[in-house]
Amino acid sequence: MRRTCYCGEVTEMYLSKEVILEGWAHRTRDHGGLIFIDLRDREGIVQVVFDPAEIPRETFNTAKEVKSEYVLRIKGTVRKRPEGTENPKLKTGNVEVLAKEIEILNTSLPLPFKIEDEIDVSEEVRLRYRFLDLRRPEMQRKLILRHKAAQAVRKYLDSIGFIELETPFLTKSTPEGARDFLVPSRLNPGKFYALPQSPQLFKQIYMISGFDRYFQIVKCFRDEDLRADRQPEFTQIDLEMAFVEKEDVMEVTEGILKTIFSIIGIDIKTPFLRISYTEAIDTYGSDKPDLRIPWKMYTLTDILVDTEFKILREAIDEKNTIKALKVEGNTKFSRKDLDDTLAIAVNYGAKGLIWMRVSEGSVTSPIAKHLKEGEIKAIIERCEAKEGDTLFLVADKWEKACEILGNIRIELARRFNVIDEDRYEFLWVTDFPLLDWDEEEKRYVSVHHPFTSPMDEDIPLLDTDPLKVRAKAYDVVLNGVEIGGGSIRIHRQDIQEKIFKLLGIGDEEAKIKFGFLLEALQYGAPPHGGLALGFDRIIAIITKSPSIRDVIAFPKTQKGICLMTQAPSEVSEKQLKELFIQVIPPKR
Ligand code: AMO
Repeated sequence: MRRTCYCGEVTEMYLSKEVILEGWAHRTRDHGGLIFIDLRDREGIVQVVFDPAEIPRETFNTAKEVKSEYVLRIKGTVRKRPEGTENPKLKTGNVEVLAKEIEILNTSLPLPFKIEDEIDVSEEVRLRYRFLDLRRPEMQRKLILRHKAAQAVRKYLDSIGFIELETPFLTKSTPEGARDFLVPSRLNPGKFYALPQSPQLFKQIYMISGFDRYFQIVKCFRDEDLRADRQPEFTQIDLEMAFVEKEDVMEVTEGILKTIFSIIGIDIKTPFLRISYTEAIDTYGSDKPDLRIPWKMYTLTDILVDTEFKILREAIDEKNTIKALKVEGNTKFSRKDLDDTLAIAVNYGAKGLIWMRVSEGSVTSPIAKHLKEGEIKAIIERCEAKEGDTLFLVADKWEKACEILGNIRIELARRFNVIDEDRYEFLWVTDFPLLDWDEEEKRYVSVHHPFTSPMDEDIPLLDTDPLKVRAKAYDVVLNGVEIGGGSIRIHRQDIQEKIFKLLGIGDEEAKIKFGFLLEALQYGAPPHGGLALGFDRIIAIITKSPSIRDVIAFPKTQKGICLMTQAPSEVSEKQLKELFIQVIPPKR
């Protein structure tokens, strides 16, 4: 007996035909002498009927023994379901299989949860029994969609001349800013490989080697604090191109995203909007703004330079910025809403929060009496505020004021349900600063990574005002999530050395860490650049999953544990000895 088709494919096309099906008993029912088994496989469910009048007693008894998730092979004939018993929810809902033979291929223990879409169990239980969780139609749909997206991306990139090339996992540390996962080398006692945080250095080497267009759908490993959109091992669509400007990389990236979204029937408009990092922070309070939220932020400092209202006066004297967030529409803020908004502000470090509600050409606000009429008018005009809009004001250092209001923007949008979950808003954020100042370590650090090129016109600032230097770096953002990032790289040895110096990376250290790249850069390195997309994040968004754990077959928990395999685990003394490693238990 060989399977003739999948359960989910048995439609009217098969009427009166004999089929052999293999799958799992999804549900069994005993109805007035007839036994019904819903048989399930990857493609769906079909109803199988056992009629004692049609089959030997023995066959009927076997059917009677079947319990949930038993593995079955069934032979039968497809017939129309009796009128009134059709199930429009199933693709196979107009037909059923009248069974002739049944074979139980395996039994199953009672299940910890049902194999259905809506289940009421914790994520821990789902991850502990991931082999069952992955049987659920929802998880099958998500992983099959993931497969389709990966295939489509490969086909697309191949069609425009990209070559899929591999890079090692046992390698040296790569500079993406997270901690490395280390692997001890038995053959080289006391030495360690690092799992790559990304293929960054190798893909640059491929450019120097002349491959011109590289891509890889590849695992990356980062030992960092985990969140809903972060896993210690995750997948990137990684690419690099030679002889290009950032526009070329952006165009290819938009093509990839168009390809992925066409799989779910969505035609995304390209090119995406582009805004600078400074504008993103200034207008949305985030370097990954969610453009589904219509509200923007405005600067009021110049309007209030002469204010006599104490709090704002002090802010202006301290050279702080006064920013306003406009919450549009007649969103009714109750006393509690206002208190909660203040709490959000305080939570992000605000010293206070001022609210104003636009009403009849003026504002209602606890501070209204301290403002001049002209100031109020100018504020309304600057914010293009309409009747019923609410403004929230924060006075602080520019970055901090933006951050506070940016967070309020997101949290209030969620609270008042203004985010349309069916919209996809892409944008590029460009012109990131090249460097940041690490207060703790008292040194410059790369915002992206040390191989990111400064903008040509900003190169002189490397000597005078390094924090003002902008990078040829770009992030692609979708619905408030950073789904990718990349840059044009430094291909000149002198600039690279200068950057290392600024980062406090000495010659010796640079040689140990990235010596091979520095050496390669001296042998005819072409100008090059690239980008990596967070594949898990994209699939999570298109499947409307709250966490990337839902689109990764075997993810880790917040604590980095795989609940199914119980990794990480202890290893034997013998293994440690071979590696010349001794474990010092952590102090409690
Ligand atoms: P970056 O570090 O920005 O760039 O990573 C690229 C994209 O990968 C995703 N991502 C993650 N997804 C899940 N879990 C994580 N822990 C995680 N970390 C990052 C994000 C991010 O935008 N080598 C550079 C790329 C380049 O310059 O070409 C790099 O790795 O969506």
